[in-house]
Amino acid sequence: MSNRIDLPKADRRVTFDGVLVVGAGLAGLSAALAAAPRKVLVLSAAPLGEGCASAWAQGGMAAALDPNDTAAAHAADTLAAGAGLCDPAAVDILTREGPDAVRRLADLGAPFDRDADGRFVQGLEAAHAFARVAKVGGDGAGLAIMDAVIAAVRAAPHIEVREGWRVRSLLTDASGRVRGVQAEAGGELTQIVAPATILATGGVGGLYAVTTNPAVARGEGMALAALAGARILDPEFVQFHPTAIDFGADPAPLATEALRGDGAQLVNADGATFMAKYDPAAELAPRDVVARAIESERRAGRGAFLDARGAIGDHFPQAFPAVFARCVAAGIDPRRQAIPIIPAAHYHMGGVETDAVGRTSLAGLFAVGECAATGVHGANRLASNSLLEASVFGRRAGEAARHAVDPGTAPLRAMATPDLPTDDLTELRTRMSRDAGVVRDHAGLTSLADWLGDARARVGDAPALIAASLIVEGALARCESRGGHFRADYPNSDAVGVHTRRTLASATQRRRQAA
Ligand code: FUM
Repeated sequence: MSNRIDLPKADRRVTFDGVLVVGAGLAGLSAALAAAPRKVLVLSAAPLGEGCASAWAQGGMAAALDPNDTAAAHAADTLAAGAGLCDPAAVDILTREGPDAVRRLADLGAPFDRDADGRFVQGLEAAHAFARVAKVGGDGAGLAIMDAVIAAVRAAPHIEVREGWRVRSLLTDASGRVRGVQAEAGGELTQIVAPATILATGGVGGLYAVTTNPAVARGEGMALAALAGARILDPEFVQFHPTAIDFGADPAPLATEALRGDGAQLVNADGATFMAKYDPAAELAPRDVVARAIESERRAGRGAFLDARGAIGDHFPQAFPAVFARCVAAGIDPRRQAIPIIPAAHYHMGGVETDAVGRTSLAGLFAVGECAATGVHGANRLASNSLLEASVFGRRAGEAARHAVDPGTAPLRAMATPDLPTDDLTELRTRMSRDAGVVRDHAGLTSLADWLGDARARVGDAPALIAASLIVEGALARCESRGGHFRADYPNSDAVGVHTRRTLASATQRRRQAA
């Protein structure tokens, strides 16, 4: 069935001779700032600072700022976490440009923690060989960085921000070039034609029942790019954070990994530690290992908790004020009680494939931040590399996009993207957590793929269904375990890691052939 119908005629069409940025997290706003002096229009579905995962980041930004640390050491840890699928050149850019990115944010006013001599105070997180995570107020890095960046954006004369604008599709011309977006605000559709469009729409956590992401992070950018024909890289790689706080909130608040960096331990309902039996690095093992260990303890009925009483104790409110506030709101005093935890969909390593300046496989379209796959994360992201990537690659994309010129050809085309009914979304999220979650297998993924096929036939190409289909089909095709992707029926890694690269057309064709 073809449900790729042109949208109803837009109420109006405007031409913007500048850089169009879709999304307003750290990556999008970094791109907007860097595109100066070219004019920039930022479209954000929510008011700035809301609905973006960047502002929720607790850990901080990893960068080799300490004279005893090096970009090469940071790169080595990043490559190891990425399990053979990082692009070493992209990792080199990330880690070499990292220290300047942190300093630039500090210059904008981000109040990074400093010691008495003004040096950055840096914490240790899992799979880092060095304490290199620059923090703000213990666990408030994301919010403080976003406050500083938003203030700079609001003050920048070259940037115009439109809040309450939701992008419904990308505009393409006959050559396949992306020429802007079709966006909705106040019930009206507007086509905004622009020489360069930068997608910065965030991740996919909202496709899962348990997530640390804002609800709106449902892979919309990846889906819209795929519908326009863009190449998608490694969509099956979703990172599950091991320690979301488990008291039924949706989204689930994070209990930052820095707690384990400071000595908090994982225990079961009997108070017994369990990580040593899963990995010699115990609490500081890579995220996927810890997430699977917790999943396994929970499935065995032993429960899983984060016990910070000994290591952090009475310092908890000062050391981790954001986590403390969330615990107290849930009736848990982490100074006296262990915190119930659950793995939660946290970060998407896959996404719209880009080069080192954010260019996608489609002319006129860039992607940055979590919706992009720049090659820095491979199969598994190293902790606190995401704000860094947003800043480094957001800036690079903004600088590249400012030179774009619109070819001015006609006609333009936009695809229909229906909304997913609430009941279907609820079912999708339940199924994604169960069948495309921490542990996957052929039977679960196949049943999910079938359900997605039926839902697409019934509802049409809703972005949430497209994004979920890309993840599930990638997971089905990857008959091995690697990084964030674990197949119970293929628990080992192949000798050599191979990327998944697909367009929506190739995925659809594969499905037809299999039918
Ligand atoms: O645990 C954390 O603070 C998460 C950090 C990250 O996802 O980079």
